[in-house]
Amino acid sequence: MKRQLLKRFSKQTPAAQRYLLSRTVESIEESQTIAFTARARELRRTGHDIVSMTAGEPDFPTPAHVRAAAIEAIESGFTRYTAVQGFPDLIDAVIAKFSRENGLHFTPEQIVVTTGAKQALANALLAICNIGDEVLVPAPVWGTYPALIRLAGAVPVIVPSPLQARFRPNIAGLRAAVTSRTRAIVINTPCNPTGVVYTREELEAVAALARECDLLILSDEVYEGMIFDGRTHVSVGSLPGAGDRTVTISGVSKTYAMTGWRIGFLGGPPAIAHAAAKVQSQMTSNANSIAQKAAVAALMGPRDSITTMVSEFQKRRDLAVRSLQSLPELDVVAPEGAMFCFFGVGRLFFGRTTAGAALSSSTDFVEHLLDRQDVALVPGAAFGDDACVRMSFALPSTELQEGLRRITLAVEQLR
Ligand SMILES: Cc1ncc(COP(=O)(O)O)c(C=O)c1O
Repeated sequence: MKRQLLKRFSKQTPAAQRYLLSRTVESIEESQTIAFTARARELRRTGHDIVSMTAGEPDFPTPAHVRAAAIEAIESGFTRYTAVQGFPDLIDAVIAKFSRENGLHFTPEQIVVTTGAKQALANALLAICNIGDEVLVPAPVWGTYPALIRLAGAVPVIVPSPLQARFRPNIAGLRAAVTSRTRAIVINTPCNPTGVVYTREELEAVAALARECDLLILSDEVYEGMIFDGRTHVSVGSLPGAGDRTVTISGVSKTYAMTGWRIGFLGGPPAIAHAAAKVQSQMTSNANSIAQKAAVAALMGPRDSITTMVSEFQKRRDLAVRSLQSLPELDVVAPEGAMFCFFGVGRLFFGRTTAGAALSSSTDFVEHLLDRQDVALVPGAAFGDDACVRMSFALPSTELQEGLRRITLAVEQLR
């Protein structure tokens, strides 16, 4: 019996064969961003002077009034289970936020508060996918989408938007990828890793495609607060005819510098929200009660700290783009939002070597940066584009300048 089972798993890693690990889990990778961030942290711990430009989290403190609300929650004993979907004040705050900022109008049964936007995505995908369904994902893509789609038993269908097209959503490609098994499309605006902010016209095209092909839309808008140059964020669910097929996902992690608090939320059709809450009720129950209280303060409180943070991010974006664009070997599209530059390094691949080996992938380039200049980025391969790398500019200006100086030196070393 065991031998038969082992045979079934023969294409798996030795550990999977030894412990008969789940094939689904074996089919996904750990988060590459988290892996490279951990590696940079470990190198730093062992005495290396590393500039880490890997993580997508604001380096700003959580605003004081939000911290105070959490302390008050502890002191007043708000430390027990809440309703799975979130406690009523936070549900009301999320409804008010969606109405005020996104033109989305929900009732309480359409909202689920989750442990970060990541759990909202997981809940929604588990709620809607059947085994073998296909889910369209424009690439470059945050690696969590394909992994969560696989964990939900479905198949991610990656549709590339190339650097040459400035990473704009490839609507024709998405349309061509639709089959009778296509269930949904996941979009992300502003986009991690490219910084693309979908225009209203692009979103209308996505909504039209979803309508024509009867698809659901999962719209991840967790970077909605980080938009530059006066652009506006548009929620696809607010477009005519899109509301009843869209699940909108966001949270407080990025906009309010609250990554560690782990509060996200979704709003969508009542049946999907109900199914997502059912998934959550069996996985984790409610999100952290204290963080829920803090999230109410964030969503309903003053917004001056956000304005300050976003204008600082825009200055850093400008600094980063200027510096990277001065290197003719790199292809740099200025990000319109979020906190990353996703730039092309493919022109460095032909005939160059580093440490005696040919440089031929985004991982080679990232290893070169780490080995030669102690600066950590994330390979584009983690986002489905092996000719690019992702650099976070969510770090203090002096550190950012030092990181950019090191990237420049590392590229010059390849000349
Ligand atoms: C595109 C995208 N969506 C969602 C998340 C997760 O957000 P949260 O911290 O709220 O789980 C991230 C985090 O990096 C992200 O980049």
